[in-house]
Amino acid sequence: MEHFAEVVKKTDYTPPKGRPVHILNLASGNGTESYVLSAFFGSGQFLLPSNKALVDSVDISKTTIEGALEDQSDYLRNFPNGSEFVGPVRFSTGDATQSELFDSLRLPLDVVWIRHPNVTEDLVGGRPIWKTLIRNAVDQLRPGGIVIMTHYSKYEGEIADSFLSQAGAEILVNSEENQQIPSELKRGKWEAPKDPRDLFITAGIKP
Ligand SMILES: C[S@@+](CC[C@H](N)C(=O)[O-])C[C@H]1O[C@@H](n2cnc3c(N)ncnc32)[C@H](O)[C@@H]1O
Repeated sequence: MEHFAEVVKKTDYTPPKGRPVHILNLASGNGTESYVLSAFFGSGQFLLPSNKALVDSVDISKTTIEGALEDQSDYLRNFPNGSEFVGPVRFSTGDATQSELFDSLRLPLDVVWIRHPNVTEDLVGGRPIWKTLIRNAVDQLRPGGIVIMTHYSKYEGEIADSFLSQAGAEILVNSEENQQIPSELKRGKWEAPKDPRDLFITAGIKP
């Protein structure tokens, strides 16, 4: 989270005026981090989702989204203020290569979050999946809106950087300069982080 905050700061992101922040967790999987995104951009407090930041979590897998909704029911049961989670964080099944999907989201988008996409396997049946998803999302970003992506490897990050630029976003933080973002760097040398999954981060802005 600390690193995430640093990356957002580098983008000069400013929230929209007079309405909630619209966030898309794209190809979200079970999207548990959606609650953190709502908290970060809305209330600024961990685990306190806010009506000031509305997150749409979308994934093509019906079973995955069903699982996310079950998790959401757990939140409802286990938190006294559980119902506060439901409005801000919404899950739906859909194919984000289809631009019509975006009609059902809360638009325009201010923040697009894409965690660990499979960009190295972009072509499925000869059709570019991730390049298309990213383009569709950037198309729906307001000017000044941001995209943040994480990658397992520098190689994946480079592909993501290029998809993002091709979609018209300006890259502000790229996988190259972020390869040593984990806190281990603070000890003066690079060590593999305990959880290497969020090692590489890309952030771009819609001009
Ligand atoms: C590597 S997983 C990452 C999931 C999640 N973001 C995470 O970090 O755990 C990639 C996800 O992309 C989803 N996906 C693939 N194609 C998609 C599409 N066309 N539209 C929406 N989601 C898609 C898959 O169902 C899968 O959940």
